Amino acid sequence: MFPKNFVWGAATASYQIEGASQEDGKGLSIWDVHTHDLRKSAYGQTNVAHEDTGDIACDFYHRYRSDIALMKAIGIKAFRFSISWPRVLPEGTGNINEKGIAFYNDLVDALLEAEIEPYVTLFHWDYPQALQMRGGWLNPESPEWFAEYTKCVTDALSDRVTHWMTLNEPQCHILLGHMQGVCAPKLQLTEPEGLLAMHHILMAHGRAVEVLQKHAKKKPEVGVAFCQGSLIPDSDRPEDVEAARAAFFSGADRQLWSPSWWLDPIVFGKYPEDGLQSYGEEVPKELLDQEQMDVISKPIDFIGINCYNAEPVCAGADGKPIRVRTQEGAALTANKWAVTPRALYYIPKFEFERYRLPIYITENGMSGTDWVCLDGKVHDSYRIDFMHRYLQCLQKAIEDGVDVRGYLTWSLMDNLEWNNGYTERFGLIHVDYPTQKRTLKDSAYWYHSVIRDNGANI
Ligand code: BGC
Repeated sequence: MFPKNFVWGAATASYQIEGASQEDGKGLSIWDVHTHDLRKSAYGQTNVAHEDTGDIACDFYHRYRSDIALMKAIGIKAFRFSISWPRVLPEGTGNINEKGIAFYNDLVDALLEAEIEPYVTLFHWDYPQALQMRGGWLNPESPEWFAEYTKCVTDALSDRVTHWMTLNEPQCHILLGHMQGVCAPKLQLTEPEGLLAMHHILMAHGRAVEVLQKHAKKKPEVGVAFCQGSLIPDSDRPEDVEAARAAFFSGADRQLWSPSWWLDPIVFGKYPEDGLQSYGEEVPKELLDQEQMDVISKPIDFIGINCYNAEPVCAGADGKPIRVRTQEGAALTANKWAVTPRALYYIPKFEFERYRLPIYITENGMSGTDWVCLDGKVHDSYRIDFMHRYLQCLQKAIEDGVDVRGYLTWSLMDNLEWNNGYTERFGLIHVDYPTQKRTLKDSAYWYHSVIRDNGANI
């Protein structure tokens, strides 16, 4: 069984659902700029598939009331959404956009009225373009900009919101956006610069924790949502488990995807030793500054795990991990991610055993190419099977002592899947973009029964 007060919910992010990208005084984010850059690569591709943008997205900005009614129909107890920083502070700092604040105020009120608990992410990648022009996360003032923004949101919402996540997957934002040049702001920084951007965003996290703890009107529960360069053991043999654990937390070989690069500084107040060694002289001095590490390592209340899949490894003859080749024709989702339910057993377990903090699964779900069938329904049986398998593994982790407090599926509704635009669908609710018509998928009805029975049918 799942614990008595287990939180069942669904997650989203501002740029992926809100639309109203130029309305009511909102400033531009780096994703507005990225999606509107229609220059083509050498392969003839624009930044985003099909030249899609988040200009309208799911039009959640105007439709949140009817969408909350759908959440209620599904039985969702918690809704994870993010705040668009440039909607609240169009220039990133300074002038407050009261209409932006009013939107989030109304959203929170409407959620609470429907008895749905708001889980707020302060930053899910839509960084203010105005701050990008001032150097973005490379600017040493950037943690303070985030603290100012956090204070503004805290003042507005903390009398009603108690669950907070500072950042969403800073790994993707920094590594894909700032180092590999794939996502907004599409930079290809040098490695030391990338490390500095990482360090500043971690300091921003720490400053936000401080601001929330100091100024929130209701006692806040603060965490951060991370993805991980996920490795799991190919079998439950102890030697495979230990090989996978070691590889999972190894920061060596400049493995910046390892959670040790992100969670060790937050929880233990230092970067992984093997990781620092792999950069040697290239490590910026800021990463070794004790005062700055103290800012990063302010105590948090939970870890948010975004988990979709993992790569299996086994122990080689010397105990060192070896990647195991997946079987021919193994199950894949529409975006070609492997279906690996055991990730939702091992990743929470590994992170709980290392960091000893409560865990929320802040994202888990699958991409499909769902459509509305002739009978007017969306028959996504594979999504039901996917969630069922993953939840079975999560349940086993809980049985084995991992303190998991909730499961927030990605996503409430189909939305803009970043560079893949609207070509992929992760939702429990199908969105027909030209008409904005919503249709509950079969998985939404199934999830309703899971929530109703607190997972007894898993
Ligand atoms: C992100 C979401 C994204 C999802 C599926 C996560 O990396 O937080 O914004 O849509 O995965 O790709």
